[in-house]
Amino acid sequence: GAIPVICIDGPTASGKGTLAAEVARQLGYHLLDSGALYRATALAAQDAGVSLDDEPALARLAAALPLAFRDHRIFLAGRDITDPLRLESTGGMASRVSQYPAVRSALHALQLSFRRLPGLVADGRDMGTVVFPDAPLKVYLTASVAQRAQRRHKQLISKGISASIEDLLADLQVRDARDMNRSTAPLKPAEDALQLDNSELDIEQSVRQVLNWWQGRQ
Ligand code: C5P
Repeated sequence: GAIPVICIDGPTASGKGTLAAEVARQLGYHLLDSGALYRATALAAQDAGVSLDDEPALARLAAALPLAFRDHRIFLAGRDITDPLRLESTGGMASRVSQYPAVRSALHALQLSFRRLPGLVADGRDMGTVVFPDAPLKVYLTASVAQRAQRRHKQLISKGISASIEDLLADLQVRDARDMNRSTAPLKPAEDALQLDNSELDIEQSVRQVLNWWQGRQ
């Protein structure tokens, strides 16, 4: 049969990344952080002086991203971009770049190449709807916008980055609206997705829920 994939889609700062990484670790599966590819495309555009409005040029960058993954770090053309990749400003740029159909299709094959034995956990916005429509388990992860802003705030503070909750909340809402309202691969639950609201759950409880669902699918 096909190589198993667990998709975890949802809005910004819903905890997808942490959940996906932990589920992948426990199952010994590969991990695809698809948002990192859009973020890397945005950084590549910045480096090359390419405008975030130039769809064909952005697509060319995306189609030939000189990315390397080593020791849990990500390199773009040899430069360690692990930290800049995670900046809020990079997320905002990624959300603009990701609106373009030509960029999305340029990253499609790269995403499919992560599907290797023994299996894959993929997180993003369109893993279940577009990239892996045949995935046997699709989770749509949500949390209240207040919770998400608060978590993001904590994360930044722990990295020594100051930020106001109000600004974070406003940024989240702008990014969610753009991701949900774009015409290509908008953020929405796949028809066969199971919804998980983790507003009141800790990471362990969320992981347990996904692993329980996964066991039920075997
Ligand atoms: O998940 P993350 O915050 O890293 O994603 C950054 C941006 O990349 C999102 O706001 C979204 O616009 C875009 N993205 C996407 N499709 C994905 C993953 C991310 O459009 N599968």
